[in-house]
Formats: sequence, structure tokens, C-alpha cells
Amino acid sequence: MSKLAYYVGGWDLDVDVCPCDVHFTDFLEEKKIKNGTIFHFGTGTHHHVGVRCAENGSNNAVLAITASVEEIDAYTKLALERPAVTKTYKAFFGDIYLLEKRLLPMFDAVCLPHVCEFRGPENESYGGMTDRQMVDLLTEHTKPGGYIFFYTKSMAYDQAGPLVEKWSKEAPVTDEGLYKTLAVFRKK
Ligand SMILES: C[S@@+](CC[C@H](N)C(=O)[O-])C[C@H]1O[C@@H](n2cnc3c(N)ncnc32)[C@H](O)[C@@H]1O
Repeated sequence: MSKLAYYVGGWDLDVDVCPCDVHFTDFLEEKKIKNGTIFHFGTGTHHHVGVRCAENGSNNAVLAITASVEEIDAYTKLALERPAVTKTYKAFFGDIYLLEKRLLPMFDAVCLPHVCEFRGPENESYGGMTDRQMVDLLTEHTKPGGYIFFYTKSMAYDQAGPLVEKWSKEAPVTDEGLYKTLAVFRKK
């Protein structure tokens, strides 16, 4: 069994290179989604999704996962310096492919921009889910009417795209089309 497949380094916000997190919060704001429960895959060192939701008056509660030591350290610093932000924003370190069903609430919005980007043999070696199993688990934990997002400009969209296409035909979701770079689905 190998060590946890962690993300090496941390990712700073660069909207020109990777706008998915900003497009996600733009969507939440445009749709006026408030008081929601949100899951986010991949915090970045910037923690944009959680911080923005804490600052914009939406009262959306965000649970986010990172597999980067630098990114979770940035969250610890955020919590020390801006405790009020962490009332509604909780980030945790771990491998998304090891999510435990019993610990997940039902979400109003689930943002999965990095499907197929980081899963490899290491995740397999310690019993990690496949990408499809992870997407299915989070679909199960999306409330009826809730939203699920994928990132069409992902570096792995050549793999994620076909997965999403197949999943959208088999899962209880409706295709809501594109919002900026995000493919948007809604749970039936
Ligand atoms: C390229 S960065 C993008 C960060 C942010 N979403 C953005 O677009 O600015 C990829 C993110 O995926 C996270 N990540 C990679 N593999 C992961 C895994 N197995 N489980 C949880 N998070 C993971 C990293 O920690 C990092 O936050």
C-alpha cells in the first residue's frame, strides 16, 4: 500500500489559467443561492469558494477538501486570522476518493472541477473509489433540485467529459447546459 496520494505544492488563484472556482461562485451569486450547503473539490491556497461565500452575505456553508499540505496550512492560517470566515467555511485535508458516506450531509450544490485529474494507482492501492464512484456518491448526497458542476476546461476533460456524459444518462440528473466554463446538472 502506498502513502496517501497528496497534491504536491499549493495552487494560487489565477483566473486566466483556472477560472472554475470563480465561475462557481459567480453562478451561486447570479442564481441568488442562499443558506445552502455546498461541497467543493480542491480548495487552492486561496480558498476562494469558502471565503467568498462567507463574505458575500449568502450564508452558504461550504465543506471543501484538499489533498495539499500547503493548502490546508493556508486554511489553518485563515482560521487563526479570520475566525468568522470559518464559521461557515470548513476545509479538510484528505483524498476525495476516500470520502465516507456516513460523514456526508445532503448538499444544495456540489462542485467537482477536478474529476479524473488526480486519481492513479496509489489511490487504488488503499481502496480509493474510482472517479465514477466518487461522482455517484456525491450525486447521492445532492438534494433534489440541487446542482452538480464539472469543469469543461479541466486538463483531464478528455477523460472526465465521457464519464460525465455516461453518468448524465444513468444518474437522476437533468443537463442544464453550460455556465461559463462549467457543465451544470440538476438532481431530479
Ligand atoms: C489545480 S488545483 C486547483 C485549485 C482550485 N480549485 C482552483 O481552480 O484554483 C487542484 C486542487 O485539487 C486538490 N486535489 C487534488 N487531488 C485531490 C484528492 N485526491 N483529493 C482531494 N483534493 C485533491 C488539490 O489539493 C488542489 O486544491
